[in-house]
Amino acid sequence: MSRIAYVNGRYVPHREAVVHVEDRGYQFADGVYEVCEIFDGVMMDEERHLDRLERSLRELRIAMPVAREALEAILREVVARNRIKNGIVYLQVTRGVARRDHPFPKTPVRPALVVTAKSHNLEAMDAMAEKGVAVIEAEDDRWSRVDIKTVSLLPNVLAKQEAVEAGAREAWLVDDEGFVTEGSSTNAWIITKDGVLVTRPAEFGILRGITRTTLIDVIEAHQMRYEERPFTIAEAQDAAEAFITSATSLVLPVVTVAGKTIGQGKPGLVATALRKALREEVVRTAQAERAFDPV
Ligand code: PDD
Repeated sequence: MSRIAYVNGRYVPHREAVVHVEDRGYQFADGVYEVCEIFDGVMMDEERHLDRLERSLRELRIAMPVAREALEAILREVVARNRIKNGIVYLQVTRGVARRDHPFPKTPVRPALVVTAKSHNLEAMDAMAEKGVAVIEAEDDRWSRVDIKTVSLLPNVLAKQEAVEAGAREAWLVDDEGFVTEGSSTNAWIITKDGVLVTRPAEFGILRGITRTTLIDVIEAHQMRYEERPFTIAEAQDAAEAFITSATSLVLPVVTVAGKTIGQGKPGLVATALRKALREEVVRTAQAERAFDPV
């Protein structure tokens, strides 16, 4: 079956899906994006992803390309047309097409909207979670507005490549003071030997991950102890457990941090239980939303 993409008002075969050479996303990385996980045909945390999209757009003074309800319908349509059961839907909004010049276009242009979707292999991802992954350490040399989910991801790309070349899954970025900010495309967590979950506060310095936010709901519902504070690579290496979160990774246990084995070198019990609990929570929420909002 051929893949279908949505590009500025049209559903087109993926191989014919193109944007203009003077799209400001292409020339200046002047745009934002979201990635939503589809699990068993259900879009996870959709409302939170769209809230964050609206915030990112506001911060960059880009208008919503279409009304939120229309965007929801487009996301569903792309998922349906690509028959995604397990996978992701990707949406990107850029400031639009204009003759190349750094300031915003004098005459307002329509923001450009692209939506694509792809399936992924759930069994392979669960197998990876059962084995655990390695993370390396890399310098966080990004700009200061990483709270905005922009497509300007070059430092993240370079850090991820470094991880891949080192045989690892992720790079944990470290700030000037020696604290871990987040992964190149995930949020970073540890569990101390006293059983306290720790992740960096999301006020600035990291992206406020949707998975992170939803996991905090789960942690609170289970009355588990957690702290939002920075931690170092050394503290992570001495932790009982570690893991990363993102829409695509859910809770993914980490078993090696910068060359040092964590705990027993296999996924911890808490991270494994949280992975299961998170999936149950998001499916429950999505199904409850669906029940009130049938499509
Ligand atoms: N990455 N931090 C960074 C830098 C990210 O790029 C992401 C998401 C996260 C986790 O956010 P969320 O839980 O909302 O997915 C944290 C996406 C998945 C990506 O770029 O593909």
